[in-house]
Amino acid sequence: MTAKILSAAPVVAQIKKDLILRCEALKKRGLTPSMCVVLVGDSPASMSYIRNKKKMCEEIGAKFQLRHLSEKIDSTEFLNEIDKLNADPSINGIIIQLPVSDKLKNLPLPNLVVPEKDIDGFHGINTQNLYSGSTDLSLLLPCTPKGIINLLKFYHIDPQGKNVVVVGRSLIVGKPLAMLLSNLNATVVLAHSKTKQLRDFTHQADIVISAIGQAHFFDRSYFNPERKTVVIDVGMNSLEGKLTGDVNQDDVKDVVSAMSPVPGGVGPMTVISLIENLISATEKQSKG
Ligand SMILES: NC(=O)c1ccc[n+]([C@@H]2O[C@H](COP(=O)([O-])OP(=O)(O)OC[C@H]3O[C@@H](n4cnc5c(N)ncnc54)[C@H](OP(=O)(O)O)[C@@H]3O)[C@@H](O)[C@H]2O)c1
Repeated sequence: MTAKILSAAPVVAQIKKDLILRCEALKKRGLTPSMCVVLVGDSPASMSYIRNKKKMCEEIGAKFQLRHLSEKIDSTEFLNEIDKLNADPSINGIIIQLPVSDKLKNLPLPNLVVPEKDIDGFHGINTQNLYSGSTDLSLLLPCTPKGIINLLKFYHIDPQGKNVVVVGRSLIVGKPLAMLLSNLNATVVLAHSKTKQLRDFTHQADIVISAIGQAHFFDRSYFNPERKTVVIDVGMNSLEGKLTGDVNQDDVKDVVSAMSPVPGGVGPMTVISLIENLISATEKQSKG
């Protein structure tokens, strides 16, 4: 068995075509979808993520702007900036690029952007849709979980009735993803750093999704070849200067049935989901 590679490229190309058409339709009505990213400080990793968002925005014909704030900004000034963007009718989607500075990290960041412009899908009103059991991917849902479901769909991998192990329980990936998969009728185990005997769970899994942030953590010992497991690798780690996932792909490729690559897997799916959220947000705002 050699694992099929679940590349994002054909999925992104398909979604992009649809988004270009939706963007053109909005422009004909005098509305150009416009995204604003708020960046605090000069982290090179954040700059690189922002470049990818800008590129994709421009490729589909939407507007992009960066609100670059000093590391020294205090919480009152920061909240004023977000209020201004929330009230600005020329901006349809706002992202607060994480992480922010230490001075700001205790603010209720997920709830600062108004729900209608919350294209990261972090606001309580938007995540409520997941708690209510929704599977509607046109809602403003968190982008990485939405991108993973679209990747699985494209490759005809239906989570219904499957044993799925999600490793990592962050608010941006693991928790919303586990909820979305449960809504799609998967049986979900949400594992984390205190999980004992993780292999006992992954050996029983039809799908394993790793979001732990540790390069090459998963080797072949975590998988049972008889289960023909599908592996989705969310990790973005640096190993010897190279972007590397949580899964040692060379080691596992002959014991799993399919795996998403790093780079070229969940990363681009996350970016295109963000742009999809921008277009959906603009369409909804235009309806009032
Ligand atoms: N491709 C993308 O678009 C994308 C998007 C977002 C994140 N990421 C990447 O995904 C990774 C995770 O990021 P994140 O922000 O979701 O997570 P995070 O906030 O860094 O949390 C990591 C999670 O992994 C768990 N964990 C850590 N070590 C573990 C271990 N040895 N065994 C089991 N669980 C373990 C932690 O458990 P505890 O809760 O017990 O501490 C925690 O829940 C990072 O590499 C990040 O760069 C990629």
